[in-house]
Amino acid sequence: MCGIVGYIGKQKAAPILLAGLAKLEYRGYDSAGIAVMENGKIEVQKDKGRVCNLCEKKEIENLQGSIGIAHTRWATHGEPSKINSHPHTDSNEEFAVVHNGIIENYVELRKELEKKGYSFKSDTDTEVIPNLIHYFYNKEKTSQEDVNDENNNELKFVKAVKQATDKLIGSFAIEVLSKENPDIMVVVRKDSPLVIGKGYNENYIASDIPAILSYTKDFYLLENLEFAMLTRDNIRFFDKDLKEFNKKSDTITWNAMAADKNGYEDYMLKEIYEQPTAIRETIGTRVNEGICKFDELDFSKEYLQSLTQIYIVACGTAMHAGLAVKSTIERLSKIHTEVDIASEFRYRDPLVDEKTLCIFITQSGETADTIAALKLCKEKGAKTLAVTNVIGSSITREADYSIYTHAGPEIAVASTKAYTSQITLLVLLAMYFAQILENIEKHELENIIKEMLVLPNKIEDILKSTEQIQEIAKQMYKEKDVFYLGRGIDYTTATEASLKVKEISYIHSESYAAGELKHGTIALIEKGINVIGIMTDPNLVKKTVSNIEEIITRGAVTTVVINEKIAQTLDTRIFTNVIRVPETETWLSPIVTIVPLQLLAYYISKEKGLDVDKPRNLAKSVTVE
Ligand code: AGP
Ligand code: GLU
Repeated sequence: MCGIVGYIGKQKAAPILLAGLAKLEYRGYDSAGIAVMENGKIEVQKDKGRVCNLCEKKEIENLQGSIGIAHTRWATHGEPSKINSHPHTDSNEEFAVVHNGIIENYVELRKELEKKGYSFKSDTDTEVIPNLIHYFYNKEKTSQEDVNDENNNELKFVKAVKQATDKLIGSFAIEVLSKENPDIMVVVRKDSPLVIGKGYNENYIASDIPAILSYTKDFYLLENLEFAMLTRDNIRFFDKDLKEFNKKSDTITWNAMAADKNGYEDYMLKEIYEQPTAIRETIGTRVNEGICKFDELDFSKEYLQSLTQIYIVACGTAMHAGLAVKSTIERLSKIHTEVDIASEFRYRDPLVDEKTLCIFITQSGETADTIAALKLCKEKGAKTLAVTNVIGSSITREADYSIYTHAGPEIAVASTKAYTSQITLLVLLAMYFAQILENIEKHELENIIKEMLVLPNKIEDILKSTEQIQEIAKQMYKEKDVFYLGRGIDYTTATEASLKVKEISYIHSESYAAGELKHGTIALIEKGINVIGIMTDPNLVKKTVSNIEEIITRGAVTTVVINEKIAQTLDTRIFTNVIRVPETETWLSPIVTIVPLQLLAYYISKEKGLDVDKPRNLAKSVTVE
């Protein structure tokens, strides 16, 4: 969860650390803090609340030090409070640590350390880490090995961090400062993200690339249990056995602008408007002359024929993308396809074996439940395929195959462009399977590809005029409940649209398969209740209209999302509002239909004066269970 930033160089560290934390705010947090090496002392400033509270502190303004670590916390152990905020120091104040993640065995470790004379100030799991480092560092001092190695304090420092992390069960991204080694910083990660940015005579650390992208484009993506020892002009890497190795850096091609608001009022709005570009980028070079290709994959016809099932596993919006493509994959590959919620799937001993292909969808590539589900499938012998937006993210290091949506950084907590890009990529994947399996006629494939290529223009058309949606938002923003209905593929869109309005406008919302309404939920329909019906599938429209007529009779206010072709077949005067979207191939329709509903959720949230990008209680990356 949340964020880590670090700086080691020649400039004043504090402003760089605070600017980095501000860029990571979107991940959600409850407290923030920094530690700067100041005249041989570690100066810690931290508090509950926003990063901007820290910026106003005189004590921070006066800090001159050029080495520091910083943290935004999303409390997992101990309430959000000043004392529980990071950085944490050991009881002798010789080491300072920031940590993202969870130490599962901290109770035992704390007891052991207390027996050794260490005392604790906070209720966090994190505080065992600086104390363990202190313990091992000082133990080393007296050991025979280090008497011989006396001058090499630096290595002793890395060694103490390694010995401490050997004791930890759980997930961590850690930065450490040492009073005795004022010109060095040590970092390590396991199952929590951490990247290192290489500058000229200065180096940066962050939980993700956008936080420090304005300073450098050269990054080292730290793997699990790799240690890095940073000085101003050097970075040394050590593996889990502390063997030194050379690591190759990656050059990032995004510019800092791509991670900025770019003139939009909110990241969410910017990202909604970026969807045409994101979809174009995702299609990229994957279609060519009526053929679908994935250079990253090497599935043979024999392998695909051997499959008895495909599992799609994910959380939240990413799971909804799975629902939106389930029937497409099933129809095109003729392989039975299931979609499941990662947090359920991982604990129900699913029937997965080498004849199962498991697909994991995750924008961030860091979602703990999704990664755990992937590890489980690997253990059971299945091949695993990650669909993610973040290159080098944790899931890509675990999966047998990774394919990327090229949607660019998604900052708003509410996922929008990642969702439409995920569906685009998965429909491409379904076509790729059908091609290998020779399940699809050439002209059929060509038609879907042709339609896919014009999708971005259709979305651009929707985005050109949003007045009608803003007007509906004004009618709806005071509502307490709203229902979303649809059948077939439109039901999957209803589910995603309902989540959007819930998470950013705090209106209670439910999505229903329209035919299921009369089995209970219709009891909730009374005069004035808002119901949104989605109808883009010509085969099902009549059925959904009948359901909507039933609720109109009971006084509901109805808004329908329909395409032009369907509009011609209906008497639309019976609905309160009619939102028209361009017509497309049914399998691709969720990509188009969701757009006005994302906008509706956005404008309702604005009408209510809420913080669209940082909805309450939510974090962008859910890296703990
Ligand atoms: C989407 O609007 C949500 N905030 C959330 O459901 C999200 O999609 C989910 O946490 C999964 O994240 P991931 O795609 O990064 O794995
Ligand atoms: N588990 C730690 C805590 O509760 C770190 C949480 C985080 O990742 O911010 O303080």
